[in-house]
Amino acid sequence: MSQKEMAMNQEITVKFGIDTVVNGELTGIRVDELNIWSSHFQAIPEDLRDTFETFINSRTKGFLGRQFIFEELDAFIAQRESGYFIIQGKPGIGKSALMAHLVKRRGYIHHFNIALQAINKPEYFLSSVCAQLIALFELDYSAVPNDAYKSGVFLNQLLAKAGKKLKLDERLVIAIDALDEVDGALPTTANILYLPEDLPGGVFIVVTSRPKYRLPLRVTNSREVELKADSESNEKDVRVYIKSHLADKQMQQHLSDWKVTGEEFTEAMLKKSEGYFMYLRHVLPAIKAGRFVHGKLDELPRGLKEYYHEHWKQMQAEHPNFDKFYKPVVCILAVVKEAVSVNLVAAYTELDPDQVLRAIREWYEFLDEYKIKGTVPMYTIYHATFQKFLKEEIDPDLRTYNSMINRYYKKMLKRKLSEQDGESL
Ligand SMILES: Nc1ncnc2c1ncn2[C@@H]1O[C@H](COP(=O)(O)OP(=O)(O)OP(=O)(O)O)[C@@H](O)[C@H]1O
Ligand SMILES: [Mg+2]
Repeated sequence: MSQKEMAMNQEITVKFGIDTVVNGELTGIRVDELNIWSSHFQAIPEDLRDTFETFINSRTKGFLGRQFIFEELDAFIAQRESGYFIIQGKPGIGKSALMAHLVKRRGYIHHFNIALQAINKPEYFLSSVCAQLIALFELDYSAVPNDAYKSGVFLNQLLAKAGKKLKLDERLVIAIDALDEVDGALPTTANILYLPEDLPGGVFIVVTSRPKYRLPLRVTNSREVELKADSESNEKDVRVYIKSHLADKQMQQHLSDWKVTGEEFTEAMLKKSEGYFMYLRHVLPAIKAGRFVHGKLDELPRGLKEYYHEHWKQMQAEHPNFDKFYKPVVCILAVVKEAVSVNLVAAYTELDPDQVLRAIREWYEFLDEYKIKGTVPMYTIYHATFQKFLKEEIDPDLRTYNSMINRYYKKMLKRKLSEQDGESL
């Protein structure tokens, strides 16, 4: 390697922090320093970060049940002066769906932490929630001040002001999804997202989290509930959800081929899903579409991981170019922590955009698609359990695909540096 090349490589790693890309962290702090990176971020519409519309709509599709949680929440709000209502549950049980439904129905001020889209830093939460408070309570600020993101001071002020504006019997409820997905170095003494220990009268915060022993949230007034897969109330909802798919003609046909009644099918699916909605969201449409038509009912995969495995094997068998197109496309989407366009995936993988689009269509049930007016569609992995499956079972830590992105940016940087060299000559 020439001295110049060595110097260039060093510059790439040190100055531009290429390592942040290696770790799949595309939201690096150094974005502003380099045009090619910032152009990547500019390509993502700003309102994609601000709005949770796509997320809410996709999570609430076919939503039903959860009355037992809503009743407990309402009782808590009615009985207490203020406080935190903490909902815990394992991945895929339906926490985000429940929160999305609450927000849609009740119009609560909200924030969804979504690690897969890198919307999981305290500053995103503070900017979004403070702006919503100012707008909703017509507080006297024309914008959120810059230092509002560095501590809980401004949020506290707003909550106090909003609390004072509440009429008798009026309540302010803020919904925050997925505290476990929050990323961000806070002082060790601070609460997660700088949430206050005490809330003003009439103010309530509903949060969700995967069960964790030591969630950094110390508060004086709270109630915890757990959504348990094998609880009677969850199983009741799951049964209703399965039954809501039985009227479908194709489903009826499959049931008759399998020689099972609706009741037997419901019980079998409850067992196979292990009580997780995420499983049913994949497997029920797959049954309808005839994907399990050749097997017996009891041969259906048990649990999400088995379903992911089976789907992977099916895709491998069906597509001779699986390793060339289908695998890299979905693995790249699992690495990039942003919704990205077909063209960007094509650039990372060095595939033709048409091939990328074809692969995206095949993986559609595992993806979220963002369509913002005036821009091209963007894609991201739908659920973290699928990303985990890829990391653990397909490519350790997705290292191959991290390197692929790394290579792309290195190439772009080299090109940029040599262009600069050319200009300075
Ligand atoms: N009550 C429900 N009715 C209909 N569909 C549901 C319900 N609850 C969850 N789902 C669907 O099941 C899937 C998994 O749910 P969700 O994403 O809410 O899980 P989660 O508990 O938030 O998981 P994670 O901890 O990984 O964030 C989603 O596609 C969601 O739309
Ligand atoms: Mg969730």
